[in-house]
Amino acid sequence: MKNSDLLFNFFTIVLLSITNCQFQSAADVLDNNYLRIRNNLIEQDRNNFFGAAVQLSPNEEVVNQHLIKLKKSELDFFKSNSSFLPGKNFLLVKNYISQSKVFQFIQRIPKGASLHAHLLASVDPDYVINNLTYLPNVYGCWINSKFKLKIFPDPLQTYEDAKCSKWQRLSVYRNESNQKQMDFDVFLRNQITLNESAVVQDREVVWQKFKSIFECLYDLISYRPVFKQYVYRMLQELYDDHIFYTEIRGTFMPLYDSNNGTSEDPKIFLDTFLGVIEEFKATHPKFIGLKYIYNIYRGVQKETLRSILKQVVHYKKIYPNFIAGIDFVGQEDESQKLVTFHHELLEIMPKLKFYFHAGETNQYGGTDLNLFDAIMLNSSRIGHGFGLTKHRELMTIGKCRDIAVELCPISNQVLKLVDDPRNHPGVMLLSENYPVVIGNDDPAAWGATGVSYDWYVVFLSMTWPEHGLRVLKKLAENSIVYSAMNTEERDEALKIWERQWNDFIIDQLERVDKEHGEKQKINDGCAI
Ligand SMILES: *[C@@H]1O[C@H](CO)[C@@H](O)[C@H](O)[C@H]1NC(C)=O
Ligand SMILES: *[C@@H]1O[C@H](CO)[C@@H](O)[C@H](O)[C@H]1NC(C)=O
Ligand SMILES: *[C@@H]1O[C@H](CO)[C@@H](O)[C@H](O)[C@H]1NC(C)=O
Ligand SMILES: *[C@@H]1O[C@H](CO)[C@@H](O)[C@H](O)[C@H]1NC(C)=O
Ligand SMILES: *[C@@H]1O[C@H](CO)[C@@H](O)[C@H](O)[C@H]1NC(C)=O
Ligand SMILES: *[C@@H]1O[C@H](CO)[C@@H](O)[C@H](O)[C@H]1NC(C)=O
Ligand SMILES: [Zn+2]
Repeated sequence: MKNSDLLFNFFTIVLLSITNCQFQSAADVLDNNYLRIRNNLIEQDRNNFFGAAVQLSPNEEVVNQHLIKLKKSELDFFKSNSSFLPGKNFLLVKNYISQSKVFQFIQRIPKGASLHAHLLASVDPDYVINNLTYLPNVYGCWINSKFKLKIFPDPLQTYEDAKCSKWQRLSVYRNESNQKQMDFDVFLRNQITLNESAVVQDREVVWQKFKSIFECLYDLISYRPVFKQYVYRMLQELYDDHIFYTEIRGTFMPLYDSNNGTSEDPKIFLDTFLGVIEEFKATHPKFIGLKYIYNIYRGVQKETLRSILKQVVHYKKIYPNFIAGIDFVGQEDESQKLVTFHHELLEIMPKLKFYFHAGETNQYGGTDLNLFDAIMLNSSRIGHGFGLTKHRELMTIGKCRDIAVELCPISNQVLKLVDDPRNHPGVMLLSENYPVVIGNDDPAAWGATGVSYDWYVVFLSMTWPEHGLRVLKKLAENSIVYSAMNTEERDEALKIWERQWNDFIIDQLERVDKEHGEKQKINDGCAI
């Protein structure tokens, strides 16, 4: 061993245990080794990162190098332009992101599963407007200064309602708008999505608007024939984004139809849902399934909670492979905390798995304390969970219990919790190699489809320039490993995913070769 190596090793060890003051003087002495030690420390840090330990085959390595080149050139572009795309509000830059080469690469990846999304905000608003609101029986009405949609049996009739003067067919609204030279569908779009105004509005205003989206759509989607179309389309959008399995959060919605009215029986809802999934699988054999996480409103009274839990346990027995468990929803900062329900939850713990939203907050020592309950109650995953980085001990427990965090960075940005994803606490989770998965939360509310936009934001903003395919492969693997699938389902899913992944790599290799060939031709052309 050379003298400098000895010195180097010694210094590395000392460096990790000494104070900054000593570091200064030690560095003076070791002037010659300074850069070497620095590089070593950086490398160590980079290699601790999420996914860094993933092994790549020689083929994967070729694709990896290609991806890193794309990534660096995109990062360089943003640097020279002082316009880091994912740092800008998604409502303003979605169409630019769609054009990114890195984004398009991510779209093609077999990403496995999408594990955090809400049923009523999971279908492209354009589809909802163009394909669902043009059905002849769709009516609209203002109720408590919110515009609501609903289906009535006879399009020739008008329907009175105690809460609004009358339900009017959308064709009538459309006609009225036309006469005023206005586009009713633009109005409609503003009811079911957040628009650019949200970029400059306060968080409270944005959240109010966000909540009203669900109210606008609820009755329309509860119409059984619409519900079937809606679910089918949701699966199609995920499938088109190379997702083959998903876990969706929602309630047992009372579905209605023209012949037999509204059915409060959850069995109707569950059978209808399952029917659509089977229908979709029959024509999309690569799609393997969906599980449902029953969500309960945070503002719930304890009495109601107890009866809901009883009901979910009952249906979990009848549909054991479909119902994954439960969650609480509603703005975390505004409502009751998990600790309020700890008796009820402890009691039900042996029968139901938990997938709690927790720590979707900027508070410290307030709402974020929900994370303590989520982990004490053995939540299987944590939705958002970014408050976790403020609680070191808890984060350690979460990591050793292998409780994955579901990151949804675009949701956090649009809903005004984390402005610039480069400063998202998820960076710290990733740098600690904490298990994470990525979800899209409520993509329809900001006009996203699939989960690739969130993957892109994480990949560009929350990883090093040198981190390429390993991170993405790990994210896909995690989406299966941390899903609610049972061991058998999971093993089967992993096998299917591996085949998809290998096909993807072959396909990418061909693309790289082709691009390389074309460049070669251009270069040859120039040489002449
Ligand atoms: C900066 O970005 C814009 C698009 O946002 C592009 O049109 C322009 O050419 C870029 N300028 C430079 C100097 O890269
Ligand atoms: C949705 O509507 C568009 C425009 O009317 C139409 O072209 C398309 O075929 C429809 N898609 C489905 C799945 O019904
Ligand atoms: C549109 O409204 C005008 C004026 O109220 C009416 O004459 C016309 O019949 C309406 N057209 C449709 C298609 O409802
Ligand atoms: C956004 O939607 C609201 C209605 O919710 C509307 O008043 C406003 O004009 C819209 N803003 C833009 C920029 O379209
Ligand atoms: C209700 O009516 C439809 C026909 O529109 C039928 O298919 C369905 O089985 C009926 N029953 C229930 C419980 O939905
Ligand atoms: C906690 O969750 C894990 C994984 O879901 C499970 O294996 C374990 O039995 C649970 N522990 C308790 C105390 O419920
Ligand atoms: Zn959510």
